[in-house]
Amino acid sequence: MALGILLVGGFGTRLMPLTSETPKPMLPVAGIPVTEHQIMAAKAAGIHTLVLATSYLANVFTPYFGDGSRWGIKILYAVEKEPLGTGGAIRNAAQLFDLANLGDEPIVIFNGDVLSRHSIAEQIKFHQSKNAEVSLHLIDVEDARAFGCVPTDSDGRVTAFLEKMENPVTQSINAGCYIFHPRVLNEIPLGKVVSIERETFPALVKDARAIYGYREQAYWLDVGTPAALFKGSRDLIDGDFQSLAECKIDPSATITGKSSLGARVEVGADCIIEDCIVGDDVIIGNGTTLRHCFIAHGAHIAPATNLENFYQSVRKSEPIPS
Ligand code: GDD
Ligand code: MG
Repeated sequence: MALGILLVGGFGTRLMPLTSETPKPMLPVAGIPVTEHQIMAAKAAGIHTLVLATSYLANVFTPYFGDGSRWGIKILYAVEKEPLGTGGAIRNAAQLFDLANLGDEPIVIFNGDVLSRHSIAEQIKFHQSKNAEVSLHLIDVEDARAFGCVPTDSDGRVTAFLEKMENPVTQSINAGCYIFHPRVLNEIPLGKVVSIERETFPALVKDARAIYGYREQAYWLDVGTPAALFKGSRDLIDGDFQSLAECKIDPSATITGKSSLGARVEVGADCIIEDCIVGDDVIIGNGTTLRHCFIAHGAHIAPATNLENFYQSVRKSEPIPS
């Protein structure tokens, strides 16, 4: 279980005028706001309480998300009167947690304009296995200039954090999902404008703190430009990015290979669903692996089933081999 903070307070300048009345994270991608896609991913990873760190057009979020009960997660709101920058926003939102009494409970922080299918649950496991103070999701991109460059050593330890540079030293970038130990959040000054990328991360690296990079090359997109927003919407519709709308997916399950899941599908623990078409109302038991399968609406698949190249006809009565 973990706590989360979602950064949704930026001005969305590159998307003006779309963001003149709607904050960037509330722009719809294939019918639902970016923030809603992220809330579903957070919930699927076992995050039970999520603070929305808002500033610009803050009052748009609460009527839509309320207390979060519709998504099965507790949503709280932290409002900055003036934008505090990414680090200041995180620190401000963290006031809603009892930092001093959290022990080692991981706090997961998300940039609010990212569609990602990396496994947050695996990132948390990695963070804990390294005994890290902070771990950052890293991905490789072709052109790293618009992002934070994050070189690491062979053990995954971050050796520098270089926000937006003309001649990137690596293709490995900050994908905008961090896990923080509560102690490190407590060190960020309260009520001040702080950039997590330009101040906090470089200072932590300089002080040789335990900052690690978690590498996972899953679907990833920052929707911060009009071209990227359209790409996100197209990817969702053609299945490159899998929507979690209405589905119950265990955090330990892996959905890959452009699989598409229908409405109200339930996927149990440790399942692997690769390159599959899964109909509505399908229930997939724990420990099942499906590769290149077509599963018809309403099918119930027993735990520990292994199927490959299996096409189930639409007749529900047909038994599924296991
Ligand atoms: N609450 C709050 N207050 N949120 C903020 C503020 C603020 O003052 N400033 C920015 N944010 C939020 C934005 O709404 C967005 O969700 C997130 O912080 C990141 O800001 P962007 O403006 O989208 O940054 P970027 O895309 O240029 O760069 C960031 O993301 C890249 C990955 O997409 C950096 O973190 C890079 O290092 C990273 O590679
Ligand atoms: Mg961005």
